[in-house]
Amino acid sequence: MEKVVSGIRPTGNLHLGNYFGAVKSFVKMQDDYDCMFFIADWHSLTTQPKPEDIRRSVKTILAEYLACGIDPEKAVIYIQSDVRETLELYLYLNMNAYLGELGRVTTFKEKARQQPNNVNAGLFTYPTLMAADVLQHRAVKVPVGKDQQQNMEMMRKCARRFNNIYNVEYFPEPQDFTYAAQAVKIPGLDGSGKMGKSDGNCIYLCDDDATITNKVKKALTVSTPTEPNSEKPECIQNLFTFLDICSSPEVKAFFEEQWNNCAIRFGDLKKQLAEDLCRIIGPIRERIQQFSSDDALLERIARDGAERARASAAQTLREVREIVGFSPTQR
Ligand code: TRP
Repeated sequence: MEKVVSGIRPTGNLHLGNYFGAVKSFVKMQDDYDCMFFIADWHSLTTQPKPEDIRRSVKTILAEYLACGIDPEKAVIYIQSDVRETLELYLYLNMNAYLGELGRVTTFKEKARQQPNNVNAGLFTYPTLMAADVLQHRAVKVPVGKDQQQNMEMMRKCARRFNNIYNVEYFPEPQDFTYAAQAVKIPGLDGSGKMGKSDGNCIYLCDDDATITNKVKKALTVSTPTEPNSEKPECIQNLFTFLDICSSPEVKAFFEEQWNNCAIRFGDLKKQLAEDLCRIIGPIRERIQQFSSDDALLERIARDGAERARASAAQTLREVREIVGFSPTQR
């Protein structure tokens, strides 16, 4: 089976956009690929988070991914900072990465603008750490969003350059991997095109039924159309996209017809949508609560994942050390 590796930034709770975008495709991928998913807690240090915030968000994200169906029996799930081998590879890759190319990465330039008082070296070498994350397992496929394409390009450069410098064909060049289901884009509730742009437009997987219902109630709408078969403005199109994803085809067809006949009652649509969302999110929320309240289980899963990830990385690092000219194992 082909090797797939992907990192998850531990930022906040998972929302519907994450779920129908990346997470569900990860869950499907576990069956067809040799998958490793890790929580990128080292990467989060570029913004100097408080230790307790790291601890809390790593635990949350682990519980939420497991609740969504990432299965430690099928995939390796681990926490980045548990595998110190990554850092050694990061060092070797940094020795062959040039200031110019790292400085041109858009995400770096953006971050540098956002935090002008903390343009640190970790931020600058974010792409080489990301390359080490993947190359340490010699993975060939990386499921990432569009915003990661430049980082992926740097990753391939790291692999290619290492191979060239040492005249080996050791690292494969990992490819961006858009899994079919990953294409689903969840709009925001505020009429914007994408959920996750702001807190106000998100439905979280940990939201309770009342919160979900309330958020749906507040979603932006327009007044009922007066012309039959009017074009839908974006905020209405968004609600129909939700129906598409969460409700039955009959329900969607019913409201389509009501819209076209200028008889639509957004109160009814929202009530239906809220019900359907609660039905989908309810069981996930329950599993989140179960995992979150079982520290021993989370600990066991993290430890097991770390062991397997370390074994994979250690093998690579032995070979890399030898290629670079060092003793393959520590003396
Ligand atoms: N940079 C990725 C993001 O922001 C997270 C990440 C870190 C990652 N290391 C990775 C993704 C390795 C894929 C592979 O989403």
